Amino acid sequence: MKPGMSLSKHYLQFKDFRAEEYRYLFERTAIIKKRFKNYEKYTPLVDRTLAMIFEKASTRTRVSFEAGMYQMGGSVVNLTTGDSQLGRAEPVEDSARVISRMVDLVMIRTYEQTKIEAFAANSRVPVINGLTNEYHPCQILADVFTYIEQRGSIAGKVVAWVGDGNNMANTWLQAADILGFTLHVSTPGGYEIDPKVAGVTNGSCVKTFKNPLDACRGAHLVTTDVWTSMGYEAENEARMKAFADWCVDREMMAAAQADALFMHCLPAHRGEEVEAEVIDGPQSVVWDEAENRMHVQKALMEYLLLGRIG
Ligand code: CP
Ligand code: NVA
Repeated sequence: MKPGMSLSKHYLQFKDFRAEEYRYLFERTAIIKKRFKNYEKYTPLVDRTLAMIFEKASTRTRVSFEAGMYQMGGSVVNLTTGDSQLGRAEPVEDSARVISRMVDLVMIRTYEQTKIEAFAANSRVPVINGLTNEYHPCQILADVFTYIEQRGSIAGKVVAWVGDGNNMANTWLQAADILGFTLHVSTPGGYEIDPKVAGVTNGSCVKTFKNPLDACRGAHLVTTDVWTSMGYEAENEARMKAFADWCVDREMMAAAQADALFMHCLPAHRGEEVEAEVIDGPQSVVWDEAENRMHVQKALMEYLLLGRIG
């Protein structure tokens, strides 16, 4: 294959899949999760290998992909910047050409989206975004599945985003556009979602609010994330000041629907972006949300490697 040519289907942003593909993936996730809970063996990926490349820290993404791949009968190779030639400036294109000749699937967590795109363009095998500065599609896959599992269809519902206009916010916006719900967004000034980065031109799926309490009014789901994402640590002091009023508290949850859910991709900082009483309270589904990373990603890996089942 010529350099720069990739025939594989990748998952680099939420908008890489259509609504109909998400319907399929959520159905498969429910089946795969049920089998797992019933201790039924399901090993369709025997002899397949997943390479995971981490240029940033991770707990959930690492464990969910690695455990999920083993459960499906496959193997995993884990690379980090520090222990591979990636940290010694080997071009990402060369790394992609080599790694993708030896494995069947690649998951990457890195900084700029352009880097994962360059990798994918030179990869013989599917590439999955395990978080970049711009997007976190596997997390929103898990979050939407969790919503559906708890409350049914998300179409027509209101999701309130309180906090930073970051990778999670951009991905929620893409999901709102594709899956037909409304995103209420409240960020401090200077930390707004950049519509160009989110890549969503349909303004009807988003409403912005100066006051986070107003964003939560009538919401079916309230969600937030850390004030300082990985890679932005130098801005931490300024962010602590700017975000002080963007802490999801009991008053915000009370303004939402009576049966509203609270989600957080984790890791969380109690007393910063969320009150302990909210994340540890009855409306919080953060532990199911974290577990569901593994189930949705098993369905995603199955889809990318084997296509539709049945
Ligand atoms: N939510 C999430 O992606 O967690 P990790 O950073 O632990 O992988
Ligand atoms: N926005 C956070 C998400 C961590 C899972 C970050 O990028 O650090």
